[in-house]
Parts: sequence; structure tokens; C-alpha cells
Amino acid sequence: MPRDHHVRRALALQRDPSLPPSLELTEGLCAIARPDGAMKERIERRADPPSCRGGCAVRRFFERAAAEGADVELDVGAGYGRFARAHAAAHPGLRVLAIEQESARVARSDVISRRAGQGNLAYLVAEARYALEFCIPPESVAAAFLLFPDPWPKDRHARNRLFRAPVVTLLHRLLRRGGVLHAATDDEAYFAQMLEVMRGDARFEPAPPYERGEDERTDFEIKFLGQGRTVRAASWRKR
Ligand SMILES: C[S@@+](CC[C@H](N)C(=O)[O-])C[C@H]1O[C@@H](n2cnc3c(N)ncnc32)[C@H](O)[C@@H]1O
Repeated sequence: MPRDHHVRRALALQRDPSLPPSLELTEGLCAIARPDGAMKERIERRADPPSCRGGCAVRRFFERAAAEGADVELDVGAGYGRFARAHAAAHPGLRVLAIEQESARVARSDVISRRAGQGNLAYLVAEARYALEFCIPPESVAAAFLLFPDPWPKDRHARNRLFRAPVVTLLHRLLRRGGVLHAATDDEAYFAQMLEVMRGDARFEPAPPYERGEDERTDFEIKFLGQGRTVRAASWRKR
């Protein structure tokens, strides 16, 4: 079945009027969070540094969480959202923000979580690096999960990996003191790189890995475990 068909079907399901309102954060979202190719390129060259003037849906999400005294946790590169849904369900006092660039993946998970009446899970369809840099308030995050980020195994593509020092710096700014960064991957080389990046970062200290139960296994993790691959996980606390 062509991929477009899945995208159209997921987006159509999402508009089902019988579902509770979506917590997908698009309303009022600044253009930067969903940059097109040309805008991405300009931002990368810092030719047109964007500025968030506040008032967007993401800001309001964080303001509401703060007003309710709820911790916010991020799932960065949430994919089809299995972990985010299970994590939000297991911790009803939390607000979980799932950031994912593929809108069809978000649409699918959004429909499932709305059918389940999950009010503490919101989705941000965005390029994670831009969202982390420009949309999320500093020191507002209790934990961030980077679970099975794309490994980009070829050397010439390695710069596309999410778990690198510049992204760790963005996350450090967003985490509050004592906030935790959790990572998992099935890719040995990528895991070694994660450990290397964090070993050289005195702003963090090792923390006990987050023990995810069966429910909280991610979609990709289930696939990798089915292929007999080994999962590596580690966590670090912001000092
Ligand atoms: C290998 S999948 C893992 C998804 C999920 N964490 C899981 O374990 O099932 C990586 C996901 O990260 C998303 N992703 C990769 N780079 C991203 C970026 N820069 N911003 C937002 N999402 C990104 C991809 O679209 C994909 O859905």
C-alpha cells in the first residue's frame, strides 16, 4: 500500500469529530517549529535567527503545567508514540510532550491517545532541534527521553544524529536542576558515542537507568528485540 495512503488515512482519522479534542500542538505554533526546507536551510546557516515571541501553543502547554504544579517530560523523536502513551498513562500527574517530525506518526498516536481519553499527553510535530532551541522554556523539563534515535550508521551522515553535544546542550538548558536525560539504542556504535559525549560533560552525572516495563517498550524497541538485537540504555542527571 503506498505510504501516502497511510498518511491520508491517519490524518483523516485524526479529524473524527466523535473524538475528544486533540492535544496536538499546532494552533498558534510559530512557523519555526514546522520549518520547510528553505527555512531549515536559513536557520542552519543562522541567516535568519528566529525569535519566539511567546503566546504559542507550546508556551501555553508549559504555562498550564506550571500552574497545575505538574512536571513535564519530553519524548524526543517519539515515533509512533507507544512509549509516550504508556508513560503518560502510568504517570497521570505528569504532562508528557511527544516531539516527532513525522506528522502521520503523530496523527496515528494522537487518535489512539484521544480514544483512550489521555489528557496528559500532547504532541508537537516539529524538527526536534528547533523545538528544543526555540519553543520550550528553559528549566521547565523534569526528564527527557531519547529512545532509539535514528542511528545514521554511515560516517558521512553521522552529523544527523540527534544525540550529540549540541543537542545535549539544548537539553541541559531545558532541564531543571536534578532533571534527567534518558537514552536507549540498539546500535553499539551510537551507544558508545552517547557515553563518550556524556563522559566529557561535567554538567551531568550518571543516574540509574530508567527501568521501562513491558508497557513502556517503544515501537522500534519491540521490532529490534524481535530481531534479536541488544538494547543499551543509560541516564544522566543535570547537576
Ligand atoms: C528510530 S525512530 C524511534 C521512534 C521511537 N522513539 C521508538 O523508539 O519507537 C526515530 C524517530 O525519530 C524521529 N526523528 C528523527 N530525527 C528527528 C528530529 N530531528 N526531530 C524530530 N523527530 C525526529 C523520526 O521521524 C522517527 O520517528
